[in-house]
Order: sequence, then structure tokens, then C-alpha cells
Amino acid sequence: MLIARTISEINSYRPRQQKYIIALVPTMGAIHQGHISLIERARKECDRVIVSIFVNPLQFSPTEDLAEYPRQLETDCELCEKLGVDLVFAPTPEVMGIAGDTSIQPLTTTVIPPVSMTSGLCGKYRPGHFQGVATIVTKLFNIIRPDRAYFGQKDAQQLAIIRRLVSDLNIPVKIVGCPIIRESSGLALSSRNQYLTAEEKEQGVNIYSSLKQAAIAFYQGEKLASKLTGIVKDNLTTVSEIETQYIELVDPKTLEPLENVESTGLLAVAVYLGNTRLIDNIILRQPIVAIDGPAGAGKSTVTRRVAEQLGLLYLDTGAMYRAVTWLVTNSNIDVNDEEKIADLVKGVKIDLIPSESSDLPVEVYVNGQEVTKPIRTPEVTANVSTIAAQSAVREELVTIQQSYGKKGGIIAEGRDIGTNVFPDAELKIFLTASPSERARRRLLDLQNQGYQNIDLGELEREIVERDAKDSTRAIDPLKKAHDAIEIMTDNLTIEAVINKIVQLYQRSFFI
Ligand code: PAF
Repeated sequence: MLIARTISEINSYRPRQQKYIIALVPTMGAIHQGHISLIERARKECDRVIVSIFVNPLQFSPTEDLAEYPRQLETDCELCEKLGVDLVFAPTPEVMGIAGDTSIQPLTTTVIPPVSMTSGLCGKYRPGHFQGVATIVTKLFNIIRPDRAYFGQKDAQQLAIIRRLVSDLNIPVKIVGCPIIRESSGLALSSRNQYLTAEEKEQGVNIYSSLKQAAIAFYQGEKLASKLTGIVKDNLTTVSEIETQYIELVDPKTLEPLENVESTGLLAVAVYLGNTRLIDNIILRQPIVAIDGPAGAGKSTVTRRVAEQLGLLYLDTGAMYRAVTWLVTNSNIDVNDEEKIADLVKGVKIDLIPSESSDLPVEVYVNGQEVTKPIRTPEVTANVSTIAAQSAVREELVTIQQSYGKKGGIIAEGRDIGTNVFPDAELKIFLTASPSERARRRLLDLQNQGYQNIDLGELEREIVERDAKDSTRAIDPLKKAHDAIEIMTDNLTIEAVINKIVQLYQRSFFI
């Protein structure tokens, strides 16, 4: 792993990486599990991972803890090395061109985000903070020129401002927002947690549980912001040591205050526990249910039926890969010509329209043309796994799937839905069955289709082989999310599995 301290070191490193996808994970050091999750995600999705470690004076006000902010460069670098980081950029304030007393004068050209995005939430209590963040992040983007940059949803206001910044200033970087990482108690991880006593940590658990109480009310139909913030307030006041700074409900993208949550809302709080300021938030939206599991576990039937019972949109990701496969074969492009396919798939428009009955597949449109039937031909079936293994295709489709997910209210099945497509899904299920059971079901299936003399042992061997292939493939392997609930379906009927999922959903959101 390289450690760069100067811009010229970056300038000699960067051009050598021209053909790679470069990730930047900007940090102020004191790397904890939250940062680690960003680095791991970047490692998985990109060829080169750069972590910047810079305690940015521009984002601290004179009364804030700049001097006391934890600095542990050596430990951080060791951790980065273990995580497979390629380069740590650890400049001094001089290198970043902002040495001196930042409280006296602006030391550099300043990036000022729209006032509407900085006047509420933390911005109200930390004047100048987001200008400091926006300025340093712009500088980091210009110095490193990453293809992607990873930020945590924990700092939701920062994330929304940075998304707006790159859009407004046409900075060619994709911003990837990553879910909040919590202790098992629910306390969101933060560098500042190290200032908390054991007792304060226990009291801090109340922050997330208060947000969750409001989320439950939202799932039960409460849309009024004043009611939802009131629930958080009432719950927070049950712990007298917590001093609330703000509780706000805003649009997650524009950060404008909401009176009602029509589709999505960002419910955010800042509190003091002793001298430590803690922030946390939750996105209110209709839930997303992610169902993953090995081939042959009955995912698609179960998902379709659960969607119907719960009134969720069935996001048929398999149909999306079929739609692209149809597009490729229909455009007379060789299914192995990854370059041409990458061009073809860029900006592809895929629409799924729910069918009227769960017995019928969703209607599928690709670039405006209906392809519901043509995507089920043997030609498409034979080629879909080749197309679905291509990274350009997966990337484009995951982006489309995630845009469906923005409003929530969907259920999707696959192999990496809960780990990759919707890592922040409210309910994650891992549906599985033993290889022998899946072989038995496949045998029945084939016999029903009129096939005879099938060797059950051979079927089981094929299934074991496919499992191994699916869980070790380089791109988006089959993986059980750490927070998924496993359902082993060996001794369960389809009805029993469906009931179990419906109950889990109702228990999570409506009781
Ligand atoms: O989130 C942080 O740690 C900082 O605000 C950032 C993005 C590294 C900018 O200094």
C-alpha cells in the first residue's frame, strides 16, 4: 500500500491508473467500522481504492473540537493496508493550501452549497460547516479525480449536499451512499462514540429506538411530520441525560422541511449526551423486502405471491436481465462482445408494469417496446446468464433497480439483493433448501414436463456445483446478508413459506 503526502505524489500515481475504476473514500481518520464498510464496498466495486485521511480545519468552528479530534494515522494506515486499500492520501493542511487560523479569514476559495440545504438540520447549529466540507471535498475530487466516491448515510445532510455539489458543478464522479452501521444495541457508529462512557452508550441506544418508534407509526399510516417528530421527542425525553438539539423531517434529496411524508422523508436528530454531540437518522419510505438464496429454493414463486398479498411491487430483476439479453440478441450483437453490449446497455430504459394477477408475469418494456413474451424464448433463456455476468450490464441494471427502490414499497429476489442492490432493505430474507431437497423438487418439475429416467444423484451434484459457482463468482456472488433472516424450506410447503414472510413483514412494521 502506498502512502502519499503530497499532491505531486498523487499526480505521479494517478495517470498510471488510467484504465482502472478508482474509488475514493474520504475520511478524517480515526477509522471505525462505519468507514470500514465504505472501504469494503469500494474494494468490491472498484479496481483501485484510495482513502484520504485529513482532519479538515475548514469544517470545524472555533468552538468545536479540532484540536481534540482523534488523530491516529499509523493505526489507520495499518487498518487500510489490511483492508486492501491501494493508496492512503494523508496531506497536511499546508499541502491542502489551508494552513493557518481558519477562524480569522477564509483561507481559500470557498464552495457554498445552496442555503436551502445548509440552513436546517446540523447546518443551523454549525455555521460554515458544510461550506468547509463542500470545499475540501471539491479539492479532493480535483486532486484525485476518482470515478466513484463513497459516503455514509449517517451524515445524511453531507451526502445530499455532496450529491448536489457534483451535479451543480459537473464533477464527473459517481457518489455512492452507504447504509448506517450500528452497534448491536442500535447506536450508530461514529468517531465520537469513543468519548462516551459505558453509561452514556447505554443511554444513547434511545436515539435510534426513538427514530424507530416514529418509523413504526409511519408504517402504520402516520404521514404528518409534526406527529412523527413528536413521537421522537416523546421517546427521547424518557432518558433525561439526552439533550435534544433538533428533530427534523425533511426531503432526503433537497433537505427542504416536509409537512407530510408523501413518498419518502429523512427523519434526523442531533442530541447531546454529556459533552458529546451525536447525530442519527432514518429514511421513512414504504419498506423494501429483499429475498436472496440459491437457485431452486423457490424464490420467484414465493416473491410473486408475497408481493400480491402485501401490495408491494414485485421488482422482477430476472426479467430485467432477460430484457437486456433480448435487446442484445435482437440487435445482432454477439453475447460475448462485452464492449458493444456495454455501449448498448448505457442509458437503457426498462419499465416493469405489475400484472393484474400473480399468475401472470410483470409486463416488461425495453426502450419503450413491450417484450413480456419475447424475453421468455429459449434463445433468451440460453443466453441470459452470460449477459447477467457482465459487469457493465449489472451496473446499469442495479442503478435502475435502485431507482425503483427510492420510494420503497417493493420486493425483489435474487442472489445479491440484500447485500448489493438494497443493502438498506427493511426486511431481508435468505430463502434456502438443502441440495437434496432442491434436487427432489427439480426432479418432480422435470417429470411433470414429461422427462423420464432422470438421475437424482446427478441433479444433486449439479446443484452443489452451481451453488459453489454462484457463491464464488467474482461479480455479485450469492451471499447471505448479516442481517438476513434465514428460512430453510425443506419441510415447508410454499403456502407455509409465504405465510412466514408475510408474518415477518407484519411483525416488523405493523405491530
Ligand atoms: O465525513 C467526513 O468524515 C468528512 O466530512 C469528509 C467527507 C471526509 C470531509 O472532510
